[in-house]
Amino acid sequence: MKPQAVIFDLDGVITDTAHLHFVAWRTVAAEAGIVIDEHFNDGLKGISRMASLERILRHGGKEAEFDQAAREAVAARKNAIYVEALSQLTPESVLPGIPALLAELKAQGVKIGLASVSLNAPAILRALGLQTHFDFCADAGKLRRSKPDPEIFLAACAGLNVTPAQCIGVEDAQAGIEAINASGMLSVGIGKGLRQADLLLESTVELTWSRLQHFWNQQQREHAPSH
Ligand code: BG6
Ligand code: MG
Repeated sequence: MKPQAVIFDLDGVITDTAHLHFVAWRTVAAEAGIVIDEHFNDGLKGISRMASLERILRHGGKEAEFDQAAREAVAARKNAIYVEALSQLTPESVLPGIPALLAELKAQGVKIGLASVSLNAPAILRALGLQTHFDFCADAGKLRRSKPDPEIFLAACAGLNVTPAQCIGVEDAQAGIEAINASGMLSVGIGKGLRQADLLLESTVELTWSRLQHFWNQQQREHAPSH
């Protein structure tokens, strides 16, 4: 038994861009007189650009000072800083274990999907040299609801022509685990302190095909109808 597809989040699963997001947000937050730290930034993982800005303004008690046009200007400035930092990314920036897992999934005939809410996802995949490795990448630009809503994972399943019950989703953010669970897929969490992941691994080093296959078989046995 094996899953039909494995659907990956990008930031924090395929490559580690959280610190680059943090540095860019910290810069524009400071310009608005708001201080954020890495701990606060953890809560922004998996959250879309505009929703992240909203959280930062709320954190600084400055929501009333920024109308829609001002918010869009701040978000655009943050993105310009972030995109500039993305030029550091190379194929070496792919997290350990991921290239081997992608190769093994392909060899096994298991489809590979991407479910990232980042509008920069296509550019990041190109910088990492992974643009041809995914069978389908859900389009963040078409999303109506961001994670923890399951919309992006369901869009990835539809694009891959698979049912959620036949898939595994991989995430490093709490909002992402909630989105996977709500989609009806099995969830694999990467990192510490994630709640409700069906399988929690400390890092992508542990994210191997044999680990996923063992997990899949165990889950199918546990949920098989008893006679
Ligand atoms: C997610 C990140 O993958 O993408 C978030 O975890 C980020 O931190 C979100 O805000 C949106 O990214 P972008 O590149 O569209 O600003
Ligand atoms: Mg992530």
